[in-house]
Amino acid sequence: MSAPATADDERPDGTGGDGGAAYRPVDRAAMRGERSTPPHADGLPGVGKVLELIRDPHGFYEDLGYGYDADVVAYRVNRTPAVMLTHPEYVQQVLVEDAPKYRKGHVVSRAFEGFGEKGLVASEGEEWARDRSLVQPAFYRERVEAYADTMVEEAERAADEWADAESVRVDAATKEVTLRIIARTMFGTDLSGRGAVIRDAADAILSRVEPTNPSAYLPVWVPTPSNRRFLNAMRGLKDAMSEMVAERRASDDADGDDLLSMLVDAEYDDGATMSRERLQDHLVTFVFAGHETTALLLTWALRSLARNPGAQAELQRELDDALADAPGGRPTADAVADLPYLDAVVDETTRLYPPAYNLFREAKRDVDVGPFEVPAGTTVTTPQWVVHRDERWYDDPESFVPDRWTPEMREALPEYAHYPFGGGPRSCIGNRFATLEAKLVLATLLSRFDVTPKTEDVGVRFTATLQPDRPVHLYFTERTT
Ligand code: HEM
Repeated sequence: MSAPATADDERPDGTGGDGGAAYRPVDRAAMRGERSTPPHADGLPGVGKVLELIRDPHGFYEDLGYGYDADVVAYRVNRTPAVMLTHPEYVQQVLVEDAPKYRKGHVVSRAFEGFGEKGLVASEGEEWARDRSLVQPAFYRERVEAYADTMVEEAERAADEWADAESVRVDAATKEVTLRIIARTMFGTDLSGRGAVIRDAADAILSRVEPTNPSAYLPVWVPTPSNRRFLNAMRGLKDAMSEMVAERRASDDADGDDLLSMLVDAEYDDGATMSRERLQDHLVTFVFAGHETTALLLTWALRSLARNPGAQAELQRELDDALADAPGGRPTADAVADLPYLDAVVDETTRLYPPAYNLFREAKRDVDVGPFEVPAGTTVTTPQWVVHRDERWYDDPESFVPDRWTPEMREALPEYAHYPFGGGPRSCIGNRFATLEAKLVLATLLSRFDVTPKTEDVGVRFTATLQPDRPVHLYFTERTT
């Protein structure tokens, strides 16, 4: 798949484009100073693009992202009008500059229905703002860096297990690692046997919102098999969370200062405490958002390095140098803070395989996006999947090329041509945590192992997050040099 270079050599301000970051969204009516409506991708009467999303989400993104030679395309899902924005300026406008004009809206609340509507990802307005400030200190730099040791310990524990295995199913094994890390750092628990319940629930959440699952378009109370499985898994998960809270309340650490204590002991300015339901939604959201996405980053990075021995060797050289003087050769937050090739591997992975591959907003009132009028109630989507593979910003966009991330390229890249963690007030609160975790786990593994592929032909599966479409097995061989 590749993107057409839509901007040719003209820009709306009438000056000639000069390539790279100078490309601007193209709309000829706007160039004449007129308002206009975006091109419309027709779907079937009544359901719009739903059938295409169910049958072939990949084709849906290809068609709307590149098929209209436009940076804004309108479509419908059932009766709801939607627009897809694929220019970094428009992405920035919606996520950052005009953020107050949008809510998360019904797509997000449907996706989090039954487990996280009051959690930090899906909640809205005052309640969201109050709770974001409440938990923000858990994500301050010093706090996150203090977790580095635990992150490395868990990576080493996995490495010891993987060293003895014939091959490793990394999509599953990385989830074990990231789940243990989030549990120990943010909740101060080793999960004590709750891992399986949490993983089951995470799978149920992913398959419930998979575009190819017709239940994704129905409320959760409609008794489809997928909804029943989901509700069962959620009951298990909520029970596990309640037990975790009860244990914390009863423990000697009851006034600890981790994320769990911040939520359990929350007291708002008016003296109110957090409702049980809200507390559960927060916990489930953090468990899910805090391990699933980072595991995907690790899966896609390990697989990409396994398939690109040159990039892997370059990374190993950088790590060998950086860790040569570290006690025990162990990575630390400081040791991985300034490693350009490790940064490039992480950025190239999140460019090509953004775990959150599309973001959704809903216009609260009539809004303008660039020259276009978007009516109140419209779903506005900003798909990283499309923007991150656009030839206007990336040469050979389908290839994994960490070397592209030179300082000059970074300087020239429009800010919102790469936004794996979103942007603006609703950007990922776990950005720093996830990035440090990914760097430390990759550093631990790649300084010890050579990684080679076992499974070939892995494609993507669009669920709530960007999954591999089959189990991914890799070989981990102890390095001899
Ligand atoms: C590679 C890993 C991760 C990726 C790619 C990722 C991506 C994102 C994105 C794109 C958003 C914005 C959603 C939107 O605008 O609608 C988001 C929000 C969020 N993420 Fe992450 N995330 C990652 C890791 C984490 C971790 C480790 C945590 C927690 C420890 C976390 C917790 C959250 C929360 C709570 C929000 C909602 C923030 C708010 O609305 O105030 N994420 N994430």
